[in-house]
Amino acid sequence: MHHPFTNLFSLSQMARSGRWLLTCIVLTVSANGLSAADLSPLEQLGKQIFFDKNLSSPAGQSCASCHAPEVGFTGPDSNTNLKTAVYQGAAPGRFGNRKPPSAAYASFSPKREYDAKDETWIGGQFWDGRVDDLVEQAKGPFLNPLEMNNASAADVVDKVKHATYRGLFAKVYGPRALTESGEEEAFDLIARAIAAYEASREVNAFSSKYDAFLAGQAKLTAAEQRGLDLFANKAGCTACHPHQKGADGSPPLFTDFSYDNVGTPRNPGNPFYRASSSVNAAGAKYRDVGLGAILKDDSQLGKVKVPTLRNVAKRPNPQFVKAYLHNGTFKSLKDVVAFYNRRDKNPEQFGAPEVIENVNREELGKLGMTDAEENDVVAFLETLSDGYVDNRPSQNEPEFPATSRSNTSQDHFRGARDVIRVVRFRTDMSPSNQPSPLPR
Ligand code: HEC
Ligand code: HEC
Repeated sequence: MHHPFTNLFSLSQMARSGRWLLTCIVLTVSANGLSAADLSPLEQLGKQIFFDKNLSSPAGQSCASCHAPEVGFTGPDSNTNLKTAVYQGAAPGRFGNRKPPSAAYASFSPKREYDAKDETWIGGQFWDGRVDDLVEQAKGPFLNPLEMNNASAADVVDKVKHATYRGLFAKVYGPRALTESGEEEAFDLIARAIAAYEASREVNAFSSKYDAFLAGQAKLTAAEQRGLDLFANKAGCTACHPHQKGADGSPPLFTDFSYDNVGTPRNPGNPFYRASSSVNAAGAKYRDVGLGAILKDDSQLGKVKVPTLRNVAKRPNPQFVKAYLHNGTFKSLKDVVAFYNRRDKNPEQFGAPEVIENVNREELGKLGMTDAEENDVVAFLETLSDGYVDNRPSQNEPEFPATSRSNTSQDHFRGARDVIRVVRFRTDMSPSNQPSPLPR
């Protein structure tokens, strides 16, 4: 059981942001279907890069190939989700070992740190938290031979130099940023633009039916309401997927970014087991030990980061298959909920855990829900898809903070991040802790 979100962060970042900003953002953060004009130039640049299929080798794969908006910024191919759940890289025949998690709401994950009180690691990016933030994260796929497969940072920079949006790059970062910066520096600017887009209102829309419900603007159906009650009480889902607003009114993220081993069975369709020995020396015996491998700590074997449940049900049509858990072994929300509910009661119906160490048997596995109750929980999860409300910022609404709209320099991006964190994680705004306004 993890304690509520509101105690998790030592919010030093907050100290640099002002309460006035909070007021601005709380009103505008929830938005969906924004046009390019609603993004800052930096965010627009990041969006162009995120969707650019020329930035792989060979060309043809963008970030969005594995993180598409219509499915909540995860894998957009129904057939792949059904069969392998793991996406092929730009080079044919090469596969990673995991399902793409949502790139939305990932910007809220803090840097990975050990929480001694709760005895759990919290935060980081990737299923195993191996990098600290979205800027570092964004550099990974470009150079990963199993993903976009570029030979070097210089390669990526060179492609951006010839991109249609090179003018926007110059506008945002200055006319000589691409040509006169060192490779690593220019690569960093590219990653920062992507991270800004990933932290934008377009990607983090907070526009689900559940958000509308929290705002008193929508009613849940009877099944959805029963599902919510089960989710928060009998099924205990909220121990790891918190569902309530923060004390400051910030919307829930449905993850506390902690780590757990829920006993995920192998995904026999995962092509990684059959990858060449240079990629996977263990072959069919491979076990994905998650955080345990990063920390070289047996007490963390099998643990992966709790994913957000926002957009878990989001799909273009009801026939579209999505894959769930870090290896995509389950193909429907019903299967996931049934697994949580009956893993330990009917183990024969679900594969054995791939990593038997540290399986959580206290909070899940035997929840005692009926089949109808499982369906109710699924009905509730379906209220978490963005796009239910289209609350574009209106004319009268305050501007999104100037810091994120201004052009140039990395400092501005950090400012925008801080602002967003204010909305999301502000826990301590006591008068003694009143921060000064953001530098302009
Ligand atoms: C071939 C598919 C593929 C491509 C292309 C790809 N990703 Fe990913 N992405 C993944 C997978 C798989 C993971 C999880 C990997 C892991 O945990 O080891 C991931 C993880 C992430 C995460 C971490 C989210 C979290 O909650 O931890 C973010 C953010 C992300 N990707 C953004 C991007 C960006 C930005 C790009 C383009 C520069 C990109 N991805 C390109 C498959 C892909
Ligand atoms: C003890 C913490 C914990 C509890 C309690 C918990 N979860 Fe999870 N949940 C996780 C972790 C960790 C993962 C990722 C596991 C993996 O990928 O192997 C996850 C993954 C999921 C996913 C898959 C999301 C995706 O993008 O693949 C769904 C859906 C989900 N949980 C729903 C629920 C529901 C519904 C409940 C209550 C019945 C619940 N969880 C209870 C920790 C928890």
